[in-house]
Amino acid sequence: MTSQGEAAHLVIVVGAGPAGMAVVNNLSKEGHRVAVLNRDIKFGGLAEYGIFPTKHRLRGGLLKGYQEILDRENVDYFGNVTVGERHDIRIQDLREIGADALVIATGAQGTKTIGVEGDQALGVYHAKEIVYHYNQLPGFSQRPFEMGRRVAIIGMGNVMADIAHWLIRYRKVEEVVAVARRGPAERKYSPKEIRAVCANLDRDDLVREWARIRPRLEAAGQNADQLLSEMSAEMTPCEPASSETRLCFRFLSSPRRILTDSNRRIRGVELEETKLEPEGEDLVAVRLKSYYEIPCDSVVFAVGDRVDETLGLPSKDGIFLTHPKPTGNDPDDSLFRAYDDRTGEAIEGVFLAGWARKASEGLVGIAKRDGDLCSKVVQWHLATRTPLDKKEMEEKLRRLRILIEKRQPDAVPKEELQWLREMEEEEGRRRGIIEGFKFPANRQMLAAIRHKKMT
Ligand SMILES: Cc1cc2nc3c(=O)[nH]c(=O)nc-3n(C[C@H](O)[C@H](O)[C@H](O)COP(=O)(O)OP(=O)(O)OC[C@H]3O[C@@H](n4cnc5c(N)ncnc54)[C@H](O)[C@@H]3O)c2cc1C
Ligand SMILES: NC(=O)c1ccc[n+]([C@@H]2O[C@H](COP(=O)([O-])OP(=O)(O)OC[C@H]3O[C@@H](n4cnc5c(N)ncnc54)[C@H](OP(=O)(O)O)[C@@H]3O)[C@@H](O)[C@H]2O)c1
Repeated sequence: MTSQGEAAHLVIVVGAGPAGMAVVNNLSKEGHRVAVLNRDIKFGGLAEYGIFPTKHRLRGGLLKGYQEILDRENVDYFGNVTVGERHDIRIQDLREIGADALVIATGAQGTKTIGVEGDQALGVYHAKEIVYHYNQLPGFSQRPFEMGRRVAIIGMGNVMADIAHWLIRYRKVEEVVAVARRGPAERKYSPKEIRAVCANLDRDDLVREWARIRPRLEAAGQNADQLLSEMSAEMTPCEPASSETRLCFRFLSSPRRILTDSNRRIRGVELEETKLEPEGEDLVAVRLKSYYEIPCDSVVFAVGDRVDETLGLPSKDGIFLTHPKPTGNDPDDSLFRAYDDRTGEAIEGVFLAGWARKASEGLVGIAKRDGDLCSKVVQWHLATRTPLDKKEMEEKLRRLRILIEKRQPDAVPKEELQWLREMEEEEGRRRGIIEGFKFPANRQMLAAIRHKKMT
């Protein structure tokens, strides 16, 4: 590691989730100065505000590791700072600081909608809002999220399993129906995650569902019996049931309309039956113009997310553009360089990592690996630049701090996060909450920090 005071490069990382933190880790280890700007006061991204609340070990381990990285002398952290065209600081402002590289690791903060009639009705939610709610992300933690008795979840991935888990464990609703446009063989949730909820599965309903879809599975060349036994086998053993909620699956069904009553309350979803047809290596859902309804009081779309297109980088179809021309390098640096399709050039010195590069793709380990690969690409770029001497570095950091202070006077540096943690622990003890008490709003977090500062 380059010692403090020696010439080094300055890198600004936006986003302190698993991808951003991997970049911070690698580049700070190499002796570069790294300044992290993060929308949330706390670091961790979905490791703090996404992973299911009962996964204490996974979450705790990740956050401890990130804390150790941020504790390094050559790392600065500014929480509560949102980057974006309509936010505290624009990408252009950061570029004007003159850092050697800017890494965008902001995750997939945009909302993916699939264009279903009625999807603006009260009681239609996007999974991320609910995930943020139960993980107490400020802005979402105090919203009521009325779910009613019966909930339809659109999507068959791990987020569906997490939402079902929350509905079963905490909301204890009567019925959860997970809806997939394709078949059981195309389910995307993992066996480990479904075991958290499979004790609630209505197995008779599953058998009836199989009878309903069997002809279409067989027409697509799939062995329906084998599929049923595979799916049933992976749901053994299940974690003990935490409520009486009935969990059902509907396959080969694509949402067509959210049905509401005269008070605009949701009364169900109209689904269109689909069949499977090959497209390249994959099977796609083809609509059959035959419809049926399922009754429900709320609908949750768990169909993945897209990037936040207001961040200020060129994007298309929910992803930020990267350079389209492969370089043949390993890793291919074009895939990590932000790209401007109007100029046909990479945006000099701006890089992408994690879900900001590939929205909603993979687990924490995949996001970390993406951050690792991005770090390599950034290092190639840094090698082409003359390192900053101590004076130049201090001047750029001074300008960055002034910009942050001016635009977000309530930015939270890493030193203050320790106070916040202590105050949350104290408050948790006071309320008898042993594990994981969180202040639900930024205002309360900032007040706690101020209180600690004064005492
Ligand atoms: C519901 C859910 C549950 C999951 N559970 C698991 C699990 O149990 N195990 C597992 O391995 N993986 C899990 N994953 C996947 C894992 O969370 C992701 O792979 C990973 O978090 C992606 O990392 P990231 O750094 O790209 O983005 P994120 O984790 O989303 O981090 C983005 C960071 O950027 C910051 N940010 C966003 N916008 C801005 C902005 N405009 N300005 C400044 N900062 C900004 C945010 O504050 C955040 O800190 C889960 C995902 C979801 C959605
Ligand atoms: N506990 C965990 O480990 C955990 C928890 C949560 C999330 N994650 C990870 O986070 C990532 C994102 O998870 P995710 O569940 O959001 O995404 P996902 O795994 O991609 O699943 C999305 C689901 O939505 C469906 N879908 C997408 N577009 C649709 C449309 N237009 N109409 C109907 N259905 C549509 C998909 O069906 P098709 O297959 O037909 O496209 C799929 O069933 C995954 O890598 C996941 O493993 C992990």
